Amino acid sequence: MRNSFANQLPASRPFGIDNLDINATVTVRIATPQDIPEMIRLERQCSTAAHWTDQQYGSLWAAQERSTRLALIAERGMSAASGDLIPTLIGFLVARHLAPEWELENIVVAPDSRRSGIGTRLMEELLARAKQTNSDAVFLEVRESNAAAQAVYHKLDFKQIGCRKSYYANPIEDAILYSKPLRTNLTRP
Ligand SMILES: CC(C)(COP(=O)(O)OP(=O)(O)OC[C@H]1O[C@@H](n2cnc3c(N)ncnc32)[C@H](O)[C@@H]1OP(=O)(O)O)[C@@H](O)C(=O)NCCC(=O)NCCS
Repeated sequence: MRNSFANQLPASRPFGIDNLDINATVTVRIATPQDIPEMIRLERQCSTAAHWTDQQYGSLWAAQERSTRLALIAERGMSAASGDLIPTLIGFLVARHLAPEWELENIVVAPDSRRSGIGTRLMEELLARAKQTNSDAVFLEVRESNAAAQAVYHKLDFKQIGCRKSYYANPIEDAILYSKPLRTNLTRP
């Protein structure tokens, strides 16, 4: 039986976000089924995120899906009245591994935590983990009007590779396709 890819991944590691003012340590870790309610709560706040049913979130951990799915959580400690730091979910990413490629399925950062490098950090974590699987490329699609997400992908050197006409519904809109190769091209001109 094939093991869960996500379960083989290294444990979470902390990193500093310079311009967050509350408890500046943000952690990226592998998601667990206990994160589902907070993932759904955040996704439902964000109209441009991919919207899934509760069952679709639950199926990320189903036996037949686990080996191909990577779900990452970004969280930071928020001060409670007691003085304790309560880990609070501020972003997540879901990607699928269909060897030799990866597809980004969703990325969401809480509105009050945007423009602090968290989306970039989640994407960098995906790229690093995808490289560990000896894969060729990461692919994604995004609404043509979603300038914020496209800016993140451009910053990470994703290249536009196509367009799917009227791909999205509610409202109908084209999808822009992006990819980023993971292998260094060693051929010389
Ligand atoms: C897309 C999204 C995940 C980006 O997350 P984020 O944490 O704000 O992204 P970052 O802080 O890492 O931004 C990295 C860079 O992207 C660019 N960028 C991000 N948001 C931007 C915006 N609203 N306008 C212009 N550029 C933007 C900037 O170059 C930014 O770097 P800078 O802040 O140093 O200028 C977030 O806006 C989001 O959750 N949107 C709603 C859900 C969504 O649309 N998901 C994409 C589905 S395909």
